[in-house]
Amino acid sequence: MKRIPAWLVCLLVVTITQATIAAPIQHSTLPNDNPDMTLSHFAFGSCCRQHNPQKHWAPIIENEPQLWLWLGDNIYGDTEDMTVLNKRYSLLGNTPGYQQLAARYPVLATWDDHDYGRNDAGNDYVKRVESQKVFLDFFNERADSPRRKRPGIYTSYYFGKGDQRVQLILLDTRYFRTPLKRIQGQPAYRRMGKWIPDPSPTATLLGDAQWQWLEEELRQPARLRIIGTSIQFAAPHNGYETWANIPREHQRMIELIKKTRAEGVVFLSGDIHSSELCINEPEDCYPLIDYTSSSLNAPLGAAATHRRTGPGFGGANFGIVDIDWSAADPTVSFSTKDTANQTRLHHSVPLSRLTFHETNLSRHTTPADFLGEWQTFYGPLTLTRLSAGQWEGECADRTLKLAEGQSGPSGMVGLVGTWRGEKQHGKVTFSLSRDGKFLHGAYSYDDLPLQLDWAGWKPGWEQHFKRDDYHLRKKKPK
Ligand SMILES: [Fe+2]
Repeated sequence: MKRIPAWLVCLLVVTITQATIAAPIQHSTLPNDNPDMTLSHFAFGSCCRQHNPQKHWAPIIENEPQLWLWLGDNIYGDTEDMTVLNKRYSLLGNTPGYQQLAARYPVLATWDDHDYGRNDAGNDYVKRVESQKVFLDFFNERADSPRRKRPGIYTSYYFGKGDQRVQLILLDTRYFRTPLKRIQGQPAYRRMGKWIPDPSPTATLLGDAQWQWLEEELRQPARLRIIGTSIQFAAPHNGYETWANIPREHQRMIELIKKTRAEGVVFLSGDIHSSELCINEPEDCYPLIDYTSSSLNAPLGAAATHRRTGPGFGGANFGIVDIDWSAADPTVSFSTKDTANQTRLHHSVPLSRLTFHETNLSRHTTPADFLGEWQTFYGPLTLTRLSAGQWEGECADRTLKLAEGQSGPSGMVGLVGTWRGEKQHGKVTFSLSRDGKFLHGAYSYDDLPLQLDWAGWKPGWEQHFKRDDYHLRKKKPK
């Protein structure tokens, strides 16, 4: 057999490699209305570092989702040079696992700050027009899409029909957002970020055009409305990017849901490099669930800030949404899976709980519901009633002295008092979720503000939770 010259082998290798790298990914998109596609199972995720190993695509494909939804920080672009931005998208587009996913399933997307162009950027990012085009081109947005004709990338999709109609709204939290307000000096706690709530009437997150569009959307018929927002909607203020940084816009969303009587709203979010569940219970509105999955391949551990309603998961993860239409009262479920395809968090809710029915608006708890053992970030917390509204608690090395008092939303009866550990002490308050399933707690050190969260949930609520998940960032054993 004739020997192939070395130079020819090199040339072939270079040519094949270049062809592989240069092959542009062809995302398959969906029309805005998909009446013949009943949505019951899809995957979502956020925060994908294009230079890092991407082990998540195989387990995502194993789940056989109907579609893949990007919730932002889809790449880390972080540039004003569109050639660089394009190259960084290409790195993602050339990842074999992602190519396999995109070849099999439709891909829908919104963006967050890093793929938009700069960390924590808003309408002051100078290349927002150009970046929108790069985004839409990469995701193969069709030429006649409304997203090609207006500023910002917000959009919506509909699936199924009749009482199985699902609306998927993808918000743009970047293009119109006014600059955030920075804290003067240092936050009260090291674990908090640098942004503080800005009550100014001119501060906006979505901008007027997007708000008007959203109102029209929420008036469209749908049984379930999934709102994709890159940054968390329901998390309390923690100094990082959340809707809580612009409280008027957060309230505007709640008022809009109430005004349009839009039922079945749930939020999906990303951005925070861990996964968690947060729930808001606004007055005269059903509980608003915000389920966060982040990051696909750059996890930070769940201990950086603990600001959630239930437990969190701090490893690399993606999310799965399942809608079980077979039940008389259909259920929507949210799962967080790790890169071994193991479920680490799970939360499900019947659609009947996402309506303006009186049972979803009222509180079903009494102080007695505080009694017993709760799982918390610090280990099991036991609350005991002494007498005449006096309580005590124990959690690891902390002892708590509490009294029934005004705490939590709408001045409901909560527990207010102090905690003391081996070396430290501070103030603490607890309130209950409407259904008594979750304990919302806030605590302080010494006389500092009550800004640290102490979430609790009943044992057994989360089958897959492992306490070790919180400690990914702890020192490695010697
Ligand atoms: Fe982000």
